[in-house]
Amino acid sequence: MPLLYHALALFVLGIPLASSTSAADLNFLQCLSHNSNHSKIPIYTPNTSSYTSILQFSIQNLRFISSATPKPQLIITPLHESHVQATVICCRRHGLQIRVRSGGHDYEGLSYVSDVPFVIIELAEYQAIDVDVEDASAWVQAGATIGQLYYRIGEKTRAYGFPAGACPTVGVGGHFSGGGFGALFRKYGLAADNILDACLVNADGEVLDKESMGEDLFWAIRGGGAGSFGVVLSWKVRLVPVPPIVTIFSVVKTLEQGANALVHRWQYIADKLPRDLLNALLIRRANASKESEGTVQATFLSVFQGEAEQLIHIMEQRFPELGVKREDCIEMTYLQSQVYLAEFPIDSPELLLQRNQSRKFFKAKSDYVKEPISEIGLRGLWERFYEIEVPEVIFSPYGGRMGEILDTEIPYNHRKGVIYKIQYLAWWGEKGRKASKKNIDWTRRVYKYMTPYVSKSPRSAYFNYRDLDLGQNNKNGTASYLQARDWGIKYFGNNFDRLVRVKSNVDPDNFFRNEQSIPPVRACRKSKEDLR
Ligand SMILES: Cc1cc2nc3c(=O)[nH]c(=O)nc-3n(C[C@H](O)[C@H](O)[C@H](O)COP(=O)(O)OP(=O)(O)OC[C@H]3O[C@@H](n4cnc5c(N)ncnc54)[C@H](O)[C@@H]3O)c2cc1C
Ligand SMILES: *[C@@H]1O[C@H](CO)[C@@H](O)[C@H](O)[C@H]1NC(C)=O
Ligand SMILES: *[C@@H]1O[C@H](CO)[C@@H](O)[C@H](O)[C@H]1NC(C)=O
Ligand SMILES: *[C@@H]1O[C@H](CO)[C@@H](O)[C@H](O)[C@H]1NC(C)=O
Ligand SMILES: *[C@@H]1O[C@H](CO)[C@@H](O)[C@H](O)[C@H]1NC(C)=O
Ligand SMILES: *[C@@H]1O[C@H](CO)[C@@H](O)[C@H](O)[C@H]1NC(C)=O
Repeated sequence: MPLLYHALALFVLGIPLASSTSAADLNFLQCLSHNSNHSKIPIYTPNTSSYTSILQFSIQNLRFISSATPKPQLIITPLHESHVQATVICCRRHGLQIRVRSGGHDYEGLSYVSDVPFVIIELAEYQAIDVDVEDASAWVQAGATIGQLYYRIGEKTRAYGFPAGACPTVGVGGHFSGGGFGALFRKYGLAADNILDACLVNADGEVLDKESMGEDLFWAIRGGGAGSFGVVLSWKVRLVPVPPIVTIFSVVKTLEQGANALVHRWQYIADKLPRDLLNALLIRRANASKESEGTVQATFLSVFQGEAEQLIHIMEQRFPELGVKREDCIEMTYLQSQVYLAEFPIDSPELLLQRNQSRKFFKAKSDYVKEPISEIGLRGLWERFYEIEVPEVIFSPYGGRMGEILDTEIPYNHRKGVIYKIQYLAWWGEKGRKASKKNIDWTRRVYKYMTPYVSKSPRSAYFNYRDLDLGQNNKNGTASYLQARDWGIKYFGNNFDRLVRVKSNVDPDNFFRNEQSIPPVRACRKSKEDLR
């Protein structure tokens, strides 16, 4: 799909306003032009011919693409920071909510859906990347994707990479502000652990950097979800050293081939492996057909920052049961390893630049595991794989650097003591309520089944795997402290309270809000007084 069609966009200055545009719209548009420093802001209204394609182009979850999904009054695609400033100022003045979209991968569609009148700030055109090899750093605009970042780093150097996720179309705006983990996270931590500076537009429309935003706000937007605090314009990130050769293997075992015992054993090994090695588990249903319910298969996917020979040696010593052989290993460059993980042919790194990818309906949930699960417990999980067409469960091992960074360093607090994270996914391709209910219900049942085996009080979850079942604010995004604490401590533990304090200081009127935004406490007290 072509990117944004600028030629068709409505520009604020010199626009021939359609006669159907209402007075309120007119005032809003005039506000934008007065506040935009006389440079043109690209705006799409429902009447603009490309409105729908722009709205839909980065929607990853087809659950939120139907005609019944609430649509924005306007989509703004900033080309300049002043466009973001003007949008914030005018939306606030005119009582419109803002949804900010970078890569559009939000699991619950919060970057482009709202139940109250809203405007989308679509940052896809705000995607410049400036890599400084000498300084081992890069400035990345919020609308860039992580695939673009990997490609631009690789274009300049083979000596550095960046520790973020595997899916190349994920946007850095949401991903970095909610954590961001991938192949290098056992060695260097999360993307959010490697942010050096940031530019952000606050609720007053001011542009702030690390120094002017202050320690608290800079802390909050690295893992606490920037969407509660402002609009991130760009990040400065620390590049991390990578070796000349990276080795990957992918060994698949079905239940018949002993997957259950191997997965059980894996729990005692994966988080203690050298930090150069990430051995993740992807568990899927295989070979299902009309005649047979098929089986469950576990893929042991390893990414090693080093050569095959050394990897084989480690596997023989640490996990001989898996029986990894030299032929299972593929050596490549670091950039190629990102291409491989994106499931592209490794000699086509330019595919990392594409922003489109095939999409499906999905629902996901997450857990953190602190004690190995018994073989019987695991078996109960596999049994549930036969209940829907495309279940997927991913185990990502922790340990290494993740166990060293303090829980309070940034809002992301799932560190020491975590053996692995689980993600449960249901994928489907069929429209309609029936398929949706069947699959969503499945994730809820599995989640319930797993209760005794995973973290407790709170039962923790990963903010970037957003799950509105964990609890949500009112439809208009407001919430009392206690209401938000329900979901808040699952994502952030005790860091939730500091997030509330930061929010209360920087956005006391709660302009930036959504179904899972951090509430300011003053607003909460105010509403109690209102009740009296
Ligand atoms: C296919 C797929 C693969 C994934 N793989 C991984 C992975 O390997 N590792 C991992 O850690 N996570 C992964 N994720 C989860 C991903 O990190 C989150 O969904 C992330 O929030 C997406 O960021 P985005 O910019 O693409 O999303 P968006 O939908 O654009 O935004 C997500 C949230 O952040 C807010 N936001 C976005 N941009 C800004 C901004 N500039 N300023 C303020 N707020 C903003 C939005 O309003 C929204 O609330 C994956 C998701 C998908 C769908
Ligand atoms: C423009 O949109 C408004 C609603 O937003 C609608 O009433 C009107 O018919 C549309 N005009 C055209 C020309 O499509
Ligand atoms: C806005 O206008 C002022 C004064 O003309 C100028 O100094 C500034 O650089 C402009 N800013 C932008 C964002 O264009
Ligand atoms: C799936 O079935 C095919 C054909 O029967 C067989 O060759 C293959 O090994 C099976 N795969 C799994 C994972 O069981
Ligand atoms: C993305 O777009 C490119 C270029 O238009 C196209 O070749 C490719 O097939 C698309 N990929 C997906 C997954 O839709
Ligand atoms: C938001 O919704 C809540 C509950 O529905 C309501 O009490 C409150 O007044 C609303 N606040 C705003 C600012 O709309």
